Amino acid sequence: MSSEETLREVAAEVSTCSKCNLCKGRTRAVPGEGSTSAKILFIGEGPGFHEDKQGRPFVGPAGQFLDELLASINLKRSDVFITNVVKCRPPQNRDPQPEEISACDDYLDRQIEALKPNVIVTLGRFSMAKFFGNERISAIHGRARKKDAGYICIAMYHPAAGLHQASLKNVIREDFKKIPLVIAEAERMAAVAPKSVTPPKPKEEPPQQLSLF
Ligand code: URA
Ligand code: SF4
Repeated sequence: MSSEETLREVAAEVSTCSKCNLCKGRTRAVPGEGSTSAKILFIGEGPGFHEDKQGRPFVGPAGQFLDELLASINLKRSDVFITNVVKCRPPQNRDPQPEEISACDDYLDRQIEALKPNVIVTLGRFSMAKFFGNERISAIHGRARKKDAGYICIAMYHPAAGLHQASLKNVIREDFKKIPLVIAEAERMAAVAPKSVTPPKPKEEPPQQLSLF
């Protein structure tokens, strides 16, 4: 199956999914969107009010800030793929629960396998946890880590954090400026070693490496 077909299949399944309780309160599920040949994948937390209404990721205020951040490094939405850890809105935007994240994880894994990204940018704590294990975002934001599967992950604060806490806005802007270097390094890696993309297993030991080259 081509990447495009897999992504379409995942989106179709997500739109009618009832694997966790978040299906009960949703207006629309939000599978994610972007280029089906994107080599950069952004992973947020879960749909909010506007995303739930429109069925599209990051279209509210946090999304406007994300657009600004993408533009600052010369990326457009159509250059990347954007999705979330959970595809349905948690009530009152509460944190997604562990059982909801694990119910939804297979969709994210299939999206990763289809895209075979060179770079995964985690937005916020919940997507960070999948790739960086038990770390604190205040300690590792802006840091990149090479994964055996052949991609590089970089952890960012969630754009909404910058809207709630003005002091973080510039931190996020500065962290985003590191992404082009990470992309360049990941492209170099991909050119020398074809990757076998296997998404991390839930119990995977956190990889040791943690530096920005
Ligand atoms: N916050 C997220 O984590 N994801 C969205 O899609 C919108 C806001
Ligand atoms: Fe299904 Fe994920 Fe929505 Fe839960 S959050 S109902 S697992 S698509």
